[in-house]
Amino acid sequence: MARVAVVYGTTEGQTAAIAERVAGVLSDAGHDPVLLHAAHLPAEFSPDGYDGWVVGASVHYGRHQRYVARFVRDHVATLDRVPSAFFSVSLTAATGTPEADATARELLDGFLTETGWTPDLTAVFPGALKYSEYGLLTRFVMRRIARKHGGGTDASRDYEYTEWDAVERFAAEFAGLLAER
Ligand SMILES: Cc1cc2nc3c(=O)[nH]c(=O)nc-3n(C[C@H](O)[C@H](O)[C@H](O)COP(=O)(O)O)c2cc1C
Repeated sequence: MARVAVVYGTTEGQTAAIAERVAGVLSDAGHDPVLLHAAHLPAEFSPDGYDGWVVGASVHYGRHQRYVARFVRDHVATLDRVPSAFFSVSLTAATGTPEADATARELLDGFLTETGWTPDLTAVFPGALKYSEYGLLTRFVMRRIARKHGGGTDASRDYEYTEWDAVERFAAEFAGLLAER
Protein backbone atom coordinates (compact mmCIF):
# COMPACT_ATOMS: atom_id res chain seq x y z
CA MET A 1 0.00 0.00 0.00
CA ALA A 2 1.38 3.40 -1.00
CA ARG A 3 0.64 6.70 0.73
CA VAL A 4 -0.17 9.12 -2.10
CA ALA A 5 -0.62 12.90 -1.94
CA VAL A 6 -3.28 14.10 -4.39
CA VAL A 7 -2.70 17.87 -4.53
CA TYR A 8 -4.95 20.15 -6.57
CA GLY A 9 -5.79 23.71 -7.43
CA THR A 10 -9.31 24.64 -8.43
CA THR A 11 -11.28 27.82 -9.06
CA GLU A 12 -14.83 26.57 -9.73
CA GLY A 13 -14.50 23.07 -8.27
CA GLN A 14 -14.10 20.75 -11.28
CA THR A 15 -10.44 19.92 -10.62
CA ALA A 16 -11.36 19.17 -7.01
CA ALA A 17 -13.98 16.69 -8.26
CA ILE A 18 -11.43 15.07 -10.59
CA ALA A 19 -8.85 14.86 -7.78
CA GLU A 20 -11.49 13.16 -5.61
CA ARG A 21 -12.18 10.60 -8.35
CA VAL A 22 -8.43 9.93 -8.72
CA ALA A 23 -8.18 9.43 -4.95
CA GLY A 24 -11.17 7.07 -5.07
CA VAL A 25 -9.54 4.88 -7.72
CA LEU A 26 -6.24 4.82 -5.80
CA SER A 27 -8.11 3.86 -2.65
CA ASP A 28 -9.98 1.07 -4.47
CA ALA A 29 -6.58 -0.18 -5.71
CA GLY A 30 -5.49 -0.59 -2.08
CA HIS A 31 -3.51 2.64 -1.68
CA ASP A 32 -3.84 5.40 0.90
CA PRO A 33 -4.52 8.74 -0.86
CA VAL A 34 -4.49 12.08 0.98
CA LEU A 35 -6.39 14.92 -0.77
CA LEU A 36 -4.77 18.34 -0.39
CA HIS A 37 -5.93 21.71 -1.75
CA ALA A 38 -2.65 23.45 -2.65
CA ALA A 39 -3.93 26.83 -1.44
CA HIS A 40 -5.27 25.45 1.85
CA LEU A 41 -2.62 23.09 3.14
CA PRO A 42 -3.05 22.06 6.76
CA ALA A 43 -0.71 23.86 9.19
CA GLU A 44 1.00 20.56 9.96
CA PHE A 45 1.61 19.73 6.27
CA SER A 46 4.97 18.11 5.48
CA PRO A 47 5.97 16.77 2.06
CA ASP A 48 7.82 13.89 3.68
CA GLY A 49 6.52 10.34 3.83
CA TYR A 50 4.58 10.11 0.56
CA ASP A 51 5.28 7.20 -1.82
CA GLY A 52 3.69 9.00 -4.77
CA TRP A 53 2.27 12.34 -5.89
CA VAL A 54 -0.59 13.33 -8.17
CA VAL A 55 -1.00 17.05 -8.86
CA GLY A 56 -3.88 18.66 -10.75
CA ALA A 57 -4.61 22.25 -11.79
CA SER A 58 -7.03 24.04 -14.10
CA VAL A 59 -6.44 26.70 -16.72
CA HIS A 60 -7.79 30.24 -16.41
CA TYR A 61 -6.75 32.94 -18.87
CA GLY A 62 -4.05 30.73 -20.36
CA ARG A 63 -2.33 29.51 -17.22
CA HIS A 64 -2.68 27.14 -14.29
CA GLN A 65 -3.19 28.36 -10.73
CA ARG A 66 -0.02 30.12 -9.59
CA TYR A 67 -0.26 28.57 -6.13
CA VAL A 68 -0.06 25.08 -7.67
CA ALA A 69 3.03 26.06 -9.71
CA ARG A 70 4.58 27.47 -6.53
CA PHE A 71 3.78 24.27 -4.63
CA VAL A 72 5.43 22.12 -7.31
CA ARG A 73 8.49 24.39 -7.56
CA ASP A 74 8.92 24.32 -3.78
CA HIS A 75 8.75 20.51 -3.64
CA VAL A 76 10.06 19.44 -7.06
CA ALA A 77 13.01 17.43 -5.68
CA THR A 78 10.61 15.46 -3.45
CA LEU A 79 8.16 14.89 -6.32
CA ASP A 80 10.90 13.66 -8.65
CA ARG A 81 12.09 11.02 -6.14
CA VAL A 82 8.91 8.88 -6.30
CA PRO A 83 6.26 8.10 -8.95
CA SER A 84 4.40 11.30 -9.81
CA ALA A 85 1.69 12.45 -12.19
CA PHE A 86 0.22 15.75 -13.34
CA PHE A 87 -3.18 16.46 -14.88
CA SER A 88 -4.34 19.69 -16.45
CA VAL A 89 -8.03 20.64 -16.69
CA SER A 90 -9.27 23.08 -19.31
CA LEU A 91 -12.02 23.81 -21.79
CA THR A 92 -9.45 23.75 -24.59
CA ALA A 93 -9.23 20.00 -23.92
CA ALA A 94 -13.01 19.79 -24.46
CA THR A 95 -13.00 21.36 -27.91
CA GLY A 96 -12.05 18.16 -29.70
CA THR A 97 -10.04 19.49 -32.66
CA PRO A 98 -6.38 18.46 -33.22
CA GLU A 99 -5.38 22.15 -32.87
CA ALA A 100 -7.16 22.47 -29.53
CA ASP A 101 -5.68 19.18 -28.29
CA ALA A 102 -2.21 20.46 -29.20
CA THR A 103 -2.89 23.73 -27.34
CA ALA A 104 -4.07 21.82 -24.26
CA ARG A 105 -0.83 19.81 -24.29
CA GLU A 106 1.19 23.02 -24.74
CA LEU A 107 -0.49 24.48 -21.65
CA LEU A 108 0.44 21.34 -19.72
CA ASP A 109 4.03 21.36 -21.04
CA GLY A 110 4.31 25.05 -20.15
CA PHE A 111 3.45 24.22 -16.54
CA LEU A 112 6.15 21.54 -16.44
CA THR A 113 8.75 23.86 -18.00
CA GLU A 114 7.82 26.61 -15.55
CA THR A 115 8.16 24.31 -12.55
CA GLY A 116 11.08 22.15 -13.75
CA TRP A 117 9.12 18.99 -12.92
CA THR A 118 9.28 15.72 -14.90
CA PRO A 119 6.32 13.59 -13.77
CA ASP A 120 6.06 9.94 -14.90
CA LEU A 121 2.51 10.39 -16.19
CA THR A 122 0.55 13.36 -17.54
CA ALA A 123 -2.96 13.94 -18.84
CA VAL A 124 -5.22 16.72 -20.05
CA PHE A 125 -8.88 16.48 -19.06
CA PRO A 126 -11.83 18.47 -20.34
CA GLY A 127 -13.31 20.57 -17.53
CA ALA A 128 -16.70 22.18 -17.10
CA LEU A 129 -18.61 25.35 -17.82
CA LYS A 130 -20.08 26.34 -14.48
CA TYR A 131 -22.29 29.32 -15.19
CA SER A 132 -23.79 28.94 -11.69
CA GLU A 133 -20.37 29.77 -10.21
CA TYR A 134 -19.61 32.80 -12.38
CA GLY A 135 -20.26 36.45 -11.67
CA LEU A 136 -22.08 38.52 -14.28
CA LEU A 137 -19.01 39.55 -16.29
CA THR A 138 -17.43 36.08 -16.29
CA ARG A 139 -20.77 34.59 -17.37
CA PHE A 140 -20.88 37.00 -20.29
CA VAL A 141 -17.27 36.29 -21.30
CA MET A 142 -17.64 32.51 -20.97
CA ARG A 143 -20.85 32.48 -23.03
CA ARG A 144 -19.06 34.30 -25.83
CA ILE A 145 -16.13 31.88 -25.67
CA ALA A 146 -18.51 28.90 -25.57
CA ARG A 147 -20.43 30.18 -28.58
CA LYS A 148 -17.20 30.54 -30.53
CA HIS A 149 -15.95 27.05 -29.63
CA GLY A 150 -19.21 25.09 -29.77
CA GLY A 151 -19.73 24.83 -26.01
CA GLY A 152 -22.99 25.19 -24.08
CA THR A 153 -24.49 28.68 -24.05
CA ASP A 154 -27.54 28.26 -21.80
CA ALA A 155 -26.31 30.19 -18.76
CA SER A 156 -29.17 28.88 -16.62
CA ARG A 157 -27.36 25.53 -16.30
CA ASP A 158 -23.84 24.10 -15.99
CA TYR A 159 -22.11 21.87 -18.57
CA GLU A 160 -19.68 19.12 -17.60
CA TYR A 161 -17.31 17.85 -20.31
CA THR A 162 -15.00 15.73 -18.14
CA GLU A 163 -14.66 12.16 -19.42
CA TRP A 164 -14.71 10.22 -16.18
CA ASP A 165 -13.57 6.97 -17.83
CA ALA A 166 -10.37 8.73 -18.92
CA VAL A 167 -9.86 10.05 -15.38
CA GLU A 168 -10.26 6.55 -13.98
CA ARG A 169 -7.86 5.06 -16.56
CA PHE A 170 -5.28 7.71 -15.64
CA ALA A 171 -5.62 6.93 -11.94
CA ALA A 172 -5.46 3.17 -12.59
CA GLU A 173 -2.30 3.63 -14.68
CA PHE A 174 -0.75 5.59 -11.83
CA ALA A 175 -1.76 2.87 -9.36
CA GLY A 176 0.11 0.47 -11.66
CA LEU A 177 3.24 2.64 -11.50
CA LEU A 178 3.05 2.62 -7.70
CA ALA A 179 2.74 -1.15 -7.69
CA GLU A 180 5.83 -1.52 -9.92
CA ARG A 181 8.11 0.39 -7.50
C1 LIG B 1 -12.61 33.09 -16.14
C2 LIG B 1 -12.24 31.79 -16.81
C3 LIG B 1 -11.15 31.75 -17.68
C4 LIG B 1 -10.83 30.54 -18.33
N1 LIG B 1 -9.76 30.52 -19.17
C5 LIG B 1 -9.49 29.38 -19.84
C6 LIG B 1 -8.42 29.35 -20.77
O1 LIG B 1 -7.68 30.31 -20.96
N2 LIG B 1 -8.22 28.19 -21.46
C7 LIG B 1 -9.01 27.08 -21.28
O2 LIG B 1 -8.79 26.09 -21.94
N3 LIG B 1 -10.00 27.08 -20.37
C8 LIG B 1 -10.26 28.18 -19.65
N4 LIG B 1 -11.28 28.21 -18.74
C9 LIG B 1 -12.03 26.98 -18.49
C10 LIG B 1 -11.59 26.24 -17.21
O3 LIG B 1 -10.32 25.68 -17.35
C11 LIG B 1 -12.63 25.15 -16.92
O4 LIG B 1 -13.86 25.77 -16.63
C12 LIG B 1 -12.24 24.23 -15.80
O5 LIG B 1 -13.23 23.23 -15.66
C13 LIG B 1 -12.05 24.96 -14.49
O6 LIG B 1 -11.66 24.04 -13.51
P1 LIG B 1 -11.88 24.36 -11.96
O7 LIG B 1 -13.35 24.34 -11.72
O8 LIG B 1 -11.17 23.27 -11.24
O9 LIG B 1 -11.25 25.68 -11.71
C14 LIG B 1 -11.60 29.37 -18.08
C15 LIG B 1 -12.69 29.43 -17.19
C16 LIG B 1 -13.02 30.62 -16.56
C17 LIG B 1 -14.19 30.67 -15.62
